[in-house]
Amino acid sequence: MKERVLSGMQPSGYLHLGNFAGALKNWVRLQDIYDCFYCVVDWHALTSNYANPSPIADYKHDMLINFIAAGLDPNKCTIFLQSAVKQHAELHLLLSMITPLGWLERVPTYKEKQTEIKDKDLNTYGFLGYPVLQAADILIYKARHVPVGVDQIPHLELTREIARRFEFLYGKGILTEPEPLLTESPKVVGLDGRKMSKSYDNAIYLSDTPEQIDKKIRQMMTDPARKRKTDKGDPELSPVYALHKIFSSPDEIAHVAAACKTAEIGCIDCKRILIKNISKELEPLWSKREELTGSPSMLKDILNAGNRRAAAEAEKTMELIREAMNLS
Ligand code: AMP
Ligand code: TRP
Repeated sequence: MKERVLSGMQPSGYLHLGNFAGALKNWVRLQDIYDCFYCVVDWHALTSNYANPSPIADYKHDMLINFIAAGLDPNKCTIFLQSAVKQHAELHLLLSMITPLGWLERVPTYKEKQTEIKDKDLNTYGFLGYPVLQAADILIYKARHVPVGVDQIPHLELTREIARRFEFLYGKGILTEPEPLLTESPKVVGLDGRKMSKSYDNAIYLSDTPEQIDKKIRQMMTDPARKRKTDKGDPELSPVYALHKIFSSPDEIAHVAAACKTAEIGCIDCKRILIKNISKELEPLWSKREELTGSPSMLKDILNAGNRRAAAEAEKTMELIREAMNLS
């Protein structure tokens, strides 16, 4: 029996190259090794976008298309929508009974996000409870491994603490503590050299057309000291080079670095190679996207089947939990 993996992604924007290279490609790899459950966590997206929920429907759709276009195979893994499996909400409620407020107030993302995100009022019960909902997502499937980035470690630690507290109070060997699965994955920089993010307006989206990608990369900053083609450059100061390191071959990376330092090639030549390589990487995804966009019923069938499979698993755990908490 394969060990179980669960992970989730918030549909709070369109998916970009950072999500693809930093997370999704890894999910695709894991589906051959583990019994994987991948969740579009739309309730989580509401915790910070409750005042303007209308775009979430589009983001969900885009996410689902990209999951499958990137290679998640519904015959190998379970792809589902959080809000379609109501048991997550039930477990969230029950776990909220046993989660001390202090644990939640101490989660670093809670205070950080509240100060960082100024245009939204995140002083809500739902936002404080975000990690409890995440714990419910994970524990309801008894997942052993959770592939996430380092920023999610505090949420995983809290999930483990909640599982331990549940077991201490009701002691039935029902909930198991999950481990983070920290796979080396590249940090993708955006068009401006900061981390690629939907919030920085610096992203290349998986839904961008080849023309849009071409234009975005051509307009990218490079080494600011390199004003003319004859000026020698420092590739380490160029976000274009940072993207080469992820999307180009070792030979090409060595070539553009050396040729930038000697001014043998100009920035436009260097960008052309990057555009070619990013397009090559995304071409299979583009054609699959087109196929899926043309067959909405197939997408619906995949999601319905995933939701059913997830709900059946979640319900098994909930029956044990209700009994342990004297609710059945
Ligand atoms: P987010 O869109 O920030 O909720 O992230 C969803 C997933 O994509 C998480 O696993 C992130 O670690 C990953 N991710 C987001 N942005 C980047 C980036 N610029 N580089 C690498 N991974 C990223
Ligand atoms: N908090 C995660 C993020 O921002 C998303 C998430 C929700 C998640 N539930 C999850 C990740 C369960 C892993 C497992 O990336």
